[in-house]
Amino acid sequence: MSYTAAASAPGGHQIDIAVLASGSGTNLQALIDDSDIRPHIVAVLSDRPGVGALERAKHAGIRTHVTSWSDYATRAEFSAALADVVEETGAKGVVLAGFMRILSPAFIDRFPGRILNVHPSLLPAFPGAHAVEMAVEHGVKVTGVTVHIVDEKVDHGPIIAQQAVDMEVGDTVESLHERIKVVEHEIYPRVVRAFVGETLNI
Ligand code: GRF
Repeated sequence: MSYTAAASAPGGHQIDIAVLASGSGTNLQALIDDSDIRPHIVAVLSDRPGVGALERAKHAGIRTHVTSWSDYATRAEFSAALADVVEETGAKGVVLAGFMRILSPAFIDRFPGRILNVHPSLLPAFPGAHAVEMAVEHGVKVTGVTVHIVDEKVDHGPIIAQQAVDMEVGDTVESLHERIKVVEHEIYPRVVRAFVGETLNI
């Protein structure tokens, strides 16, 4: 599997994206800072009010919306409401950037093959919310970053790009995650550029 870095497919068609984020939003910032991607980010959506990602979006003049997890009784209802918001923005693609909720299969079905995720490990190793902690606990010598298309399983689906990050002597979860994020901020914009330009070869 490979991806190309071309800005757009022959004919120049590009798609708009909604970015979903739950946290500090450093990956979102890397996307905002890419001049090929920024014009295509039509909204930043979160499951939590007050997070750094929303502030970064507002600062960049991007529309924001919170679909609060706690307002819904079930994952299915939360996901349906969120999918409605994505559709309403006109986005054709969904980019998860530190989004910490599992989306329902119905959400995935509404954007088939059009949801990207970045994960802080070399999948299929260490799926889930504690990938960096698990890598440190297991004492692996190499971990890394994976960018993949989202399917109905957690941290699963066709892999688009991976890059290794070496463990260093004395690494803590924090120091390792910091180096992982440096790599994320390089490879995620490259893939998202191709995604927006519809030149991803899966
Ligand atoms: C990143 O490490 C991402 O891989 C993981 O959550 C973290 C989000 O960081 N899913 P940030 O909010 O983009 O700074």
